[in-house]
Amino acid sequence: MKGIILAGGNGTRLKPLTDVTNKHLLPVYNKPMVFYSIDTLKSMGIHDIILVTGKEFSGDFADLLGDGKDFGIEFTYKVQEEALGIAHALGTVKNTIGKDPILVILGDNIFMLDKTETEELKKRTSEFSKNPDGAMIFLKEVKDPERFGVPEFDKNNNVIKIEEKPNKPKSRYAVTGLYMYDNTIFDKISELKPSKRGEFELTDVNNLYLKEGRLKSHIIKGEWTDAGTFESLYRAGTLAKDLAEKNK
Ligand code: DAU
Repeated sequence: MKGIILAGGNGTRLKPLTDVTNKHLLPVYNKPMVFYSIDTLKSMGIHDIILVTGKEFSGDFADLLGDGKDFGIEFTYKVQEEALGIAHALGTVKNTIGKDPILVILGDNIFMLDKTETEELKKRTSEFSKNPDGAMIFLKEVKDPERFGVPEFDKNNNVIKIEEKPNKPKSRYAVTGLYMYDNTIFDKISELKPSKRGEFELTDVNNLYLKEGRLKSHIIKGEWTDAGTFESLYRAGTLAKDLAEKNK
């Protein structure tokens, strides 16, 4: 099973920091942001990673990560010519993947999970890779769900719908930027139309899996944040520092 890190986009919410570099190369405490998503995929047993990024700073990723030897990873790079959305970025890997399932992480997502939970996710990844069917999303309770994809649950706590950045969230949960997909994802991506914000949304893909009754969800117990706004970038740095000190 290949891992995909999506590290394109314009990083508009972090301007002027992103005027001269890509968001995922900015520091989160003592490491470039992208190192955290590499660590997360690695901890889930993935050693073959495709990194998707925009044209402008793609060379900087190659300078930083190389072929991946130093990380114990094999890296492949893909260019997303225009920042047309997360699902569009994922669509660029179609021909490189073939028939395999994929584990996808958004490059601005930081997961701080303990050993037990990490092992559990590793097990889920291995099970999914042996028997890929449908999709799996990972949820986390947050204070500001309106910033994210938000699941709506039925009485039995099954996800029935996901709304992207709703004004009136139907739950307190966010869909985190970690996803497992079977190979039908690429047909689903090709069906998409741009959303109101003009992007091809992964939330629309997840809703297509839901309609087929083939989307599973799992609630994350550990810490999670994105790092795409000044507030969340600051929180990511604080979480990373706390963890580094705990592990000293
Ligand atoms: O962080 C989790 C959230 O991420 C989810 O809850 C939302 O459902 C999902 O839409 C996404 O929301 P954001 O608005 O925070 O996504 P953002 O535009 O910041 O993009 C997230 C990452 O995806 C970004 O770090 C890089 C990558 N990306 C994004 C775009 C728009 C690309 O690779 N290419 C793109 O064109």
